[in-house]
Amino acid sequence: AIERTFSMIKPDATKRNLTGAITKVFEENGLRVVASKRVWMSQKQAESFYAVHKERPFFGELVEFMCSAPTIVQVLEGENAIAKNREVMGATNPAEAADGTIRKLFAESIGENSVHGSDAAETAAEEIAFWFGGNEIVG
Ligand code: CMP
Repeated sequence: AIERTFSMIKPDATKRNLTGAITKVFEENGLRVVASKRVWMSQKQAESFYAVHKERPFFGELVEFMCSAPTIVQVLEGENAIAKNREVMGATNPAEAADGTIRKLFAESIGENSVHGSDAAETAAEEIAFWFGGNEIVG
């Protein structure tokens, strides 16, 4: 089925001017950008977006990193977009990511791993609604 998922290009990637290179990998794999904006998130936004991780030992580091430079938040649309996006991103830890995946190509470490993508339909809907109003998504 045609789905929508939420994607974020993280500060390590925007700092290295990789927005286009990463978006190209999505497009080459059948994902279409139907919403996109550049945001420099506040500490509050980062804490709220990643609230599910707040008990993790890396939470402070994660929030600080996500606020360290701009990110690109996007909605990607396509056949099985949620699973497809996860496949194209590769494993969270770039050392474990398959050849050709975004994290294998570009990520620097498990924390500075260039992209985030929703892990399931329910989180995709929540994460899209966190960053976008309905009229900002144009399919
Ligand atoms: P993301 O998909 O954005 O969701 C949570 C993020 O936490 C994850 O990608 C990683 O970038 C980050 N993360 C996970 N494990 C660690 C870790 N051990 N140290 C630092 N950051 C981590």
